[in-house]
Amino acid sequence: MGKRSNGMRIGILTAGGDCPGINAAIRGVGKTAIVKYGMEVVGISDGYTGMITKEYRELSEKDLSGILTLGGTILGTSREKPFKDSGKKKNEIKKPDLIKEHYDQMDLDCLVCIGGNGTLKTAHLLSHEGLNVIGLPKTIDNDVYGTDITFGFDSAVNIATEAIDRLHSTANSHKRIMMIELMGHNAGWIALYSGIAGGGDVILIPEIPYKEEKIAEYLLHRVEENKPYSIVVVAEGIHNPGKEKSAAQYLSNRINDMTGLEIRETVLGYIQRGGTPSPMDRVLATRYGAAAADMIAAKDFGKMVALRNNEIVSVPLADVAGKLKLVEPDNPMIIQAQNMGTSFGV
Ligand code: F6P
Repeated sequence: MGKRSNGMRIGILTAGGDCPGINAAIRGVGKTAIVKYGMEVVGISDGYTGMITKEYRELSEKDLSGILTLGGTILGTSREKPFKDSGKKKNEIKKPDLIKEHYDQMDLDCLVCIGGNGTLKTAHLLSHEGLNVIGLPKTIDNDVYGTDITFGFDSAVNIATEAIDRLHSTANSHKRIMMIELMGHNAGWIALYSGIAGGGDVILIPEIPYKEEKIAEYLLHRVEENKPYSIVVVAEGIHNPGKEKSAAQYLSNRINDMTGLEIRETVLGYIQRGGTPSPMDRVLATRYGAAAADMIAAKDFGKMVALRNNEIVSVPLADVAGKLKLVEPDNPMIIQAQNMGTSFGV
């Protein structure tokens, strides 16, 4: 297929926490833009920071080869929020104004913003400032409103599930309670999915307030039933009134005080957000990326690419910005797990 140039020039940035699949998405946008539409593509460094400092580089088709399987982001990322705390000092140029200026100087027709909730909120605000933007939902947390799934989530669930599988060995051999804390910010998606996939006996998520007594009772009951070990999966965002740094440390101390059972905790941390993306995330990120390039060619700006019932759709950023997709406490997966004996601490 011969290239036809539509004369457009687009910028791609990746912002917020890194996750598996970002490079696959950059490749999906970039290759489709170059090969299908003959667009010029530039990569902005370190999220919105690069738009403020005007750090960018041209991306050729060759630059986009060999990155599909790489973790992290070849463009770098940051948690820069240009609309927050900017322009308050005397004579300071507001960051959004700098971004607009640099967008024009870079001669961009569109800015593709790959990120989670914070990134998409900023993208929406920039579209109000007159920039053409397209959002791509990425995060291990899976908490972006308006899409069934974000890329990064499947990889994180795979890693977390493998970690839970491995904890079973020690739990079983030592007849201990093994508690694992997983990421997810204020959402319990990773804990819910990997908790179910890994056969967690207790799964605690921020969306369902837990009672310590119920967990203690449940674990003691298992011991009485000749099940001397248990796996407890907790999301990092659950209620943590203790001085301990992590929810798992707090809860493990409390449950030990209440039951006398031997408990060990593991905080999985950044392991679950690094490394090569799962095949499902590679496919999803590629689909999102290719669709974003099509939306740019169609001048369908101010939108986010999303997946609904396995169909790629575009949704207005206005419908998404500032909202969170949390687990509904009556999610059928939760009810099914409860019916099989899993405790959610209630
Ligand atoms: O959004 C992804 C995530 O890993 C969350 O699960 C976690 O709460 C947060 O980022 C950690 O952020 P940081 O990278 O700033 O430590």
